[in-house]
Amino acid sequence: MAEFDQNNNTKSEDNLLRLVIMNPPDKGHEALRSMFTQIPYVWLQAECTKYEFLQDVIANQTTPHVVVVAIDADLEKACKAIERLAQEMPDVGILAISKRDDGQAILKSLRAGAKEFLTMPFGVDTLSDALRKLEKVGRVHKSPTVGVNKKEKTLIISFLGSRGGVGCTSLSVNIGATLAADPHNKVVLVDLDLALGDADIALDLVADYTLSDLIENIDKLDMTFLNRSLSKHSTGLALLPHPLNVSDATIINEDHLKRIISLLAACHTHLVLDLSKSLRPTDICALAMSDFIFLVVQLEITSIRNAIRLLSTLDADGRLGPRVKLVLNRVGMVTDITKEKAVELLGRPFFWEVPNDHKVMMESRNSGTPMVKSAPVSKIQQNFSDFADEICSKTKANKGAKSFWHSLFTNKS
Ligand SMILES: Nc1ncnc2c1ncn2[C@@H]1O[C@H](COP(=O)(O)OP(=O)(O)OP(=O)(O)O)[C@@H](O)[C@H]1O
Ligand SMILES: [Mg+2]
Repeated sequence: MAEFDQNNNTKSEDNLLRLVIMNPPDKGHEALRSMFTQIPYVWLQAECTKYEFLQDVIANQTTPHVVVVAIDADLEKACKAIERLAQEMPDVGILAISKRDDGQAILKSLRAGAKEFLTMPFGVDTLSDALRKLEKVGRVHKSPTVGVNKKEKTLIISFLGSRGGVGCTSLSVNIGATLAADPHNKVVLVDLDLALGDADIALDLVADYTLSDLIENIDKLDMTFLNRSLSKHSTGLALLPHPLNVSDATIINEDHLKRIISLLAACHTHLVLDLSKSLRPTDICALAMSDFIFLVVQLEITSIRNAIRLLSTLDADGRLGPRVKLVLNRVGMVTDITKEKAVELLGRPFFWEVPNDHKVMMESRNSGTPMVKSAPVSKIQQNFSDFADEICSKTKANKGAKSFWHSLFTNKS
């Protein structure tokens, strides 16, 4: 299908370069920072202003791919920091930068362990070239994160509805909270029903920040800002809510979303996307970035008819089709058609079936507490736990890891 942007179709976490800047404060500080944040594939993970603290700052983060060290403030201390970093984290690419074209300083920083050196001022292209050179050193990043078990690629799952009220938000919230119950996981739910979403209500969260705040600050997003913008539920599930003002839904475009999903993926194990029913460009972008697209249906005519239409559209895109899995919701309810008839019409079996449980679901929705907390021993929560396990086990089976550096530089235009 024509609308699906080919470039969207890669898992963007692979395309992100995690960067830490070591730069003692001076008047060029902001300009330098913004140069890095202008490069779309750079994820500015942390900034450090004291050479002595560099190692500690890095130890509290996902291990970066590149550390940039400005050496002018104190060459001795800078070289010591570089040396320690090169010894303790040999996979990290170190880029030394200086305003002075001083041959001795260049030599000293390279001997300490810097892999590249740039003299300021330099342009974005020069910086990008330096990152390419660091890639040629062949440092494939292997270290797991600190505090987040991200040895595996972040799993992105979308819930796409076949009509209104079919259960996308209920499934997003409950699968998200079930995944978040595992202390090894760090899970975020993104409400992409931009105008009319209600994931915040389903979680009883009053958010200080929403997607539109992130978009307003898209050029200066860093880990701290991003984490501060998420609302945390007591289950551990984080939420990035839809914009407060309905009119803000229209300002969010695919580029914004790609960047935000990529950044969230860099610091979470699972992303759950609750899509709108209008197949906006942002929904299509989200579909293209998802590992699994759960198309939610119920056994009634409108839902099945729309599911058939959606399947034919999604299947026409060779890369999206295989990621689509049918989820039958509210099994056990009185229905228009039988499951067998639905399978025949849809031309494929259901990947998962969720039972109908009006009472438990309503209590959970009304209290804003996912069932993993409000009804942990209920049959429907058991079903969600098995569903989450199935998703995770399928992911392990499907894994075909591409190296970070390979995808970073081969996918870039
Ligand atoms: N398995 C289930 N058992 C019982 N009730 C359910 C189940 N799944 C969803 N519901 C109920 O169906 C209603 C609609 O669910 P939900 O809001 O999750 O759907 P949606 O697809 O997100 O809707 P919208 O189109 O408004 O975004 C809710 O009242 C919810 O409690
Ligand atoms: Mg919904």
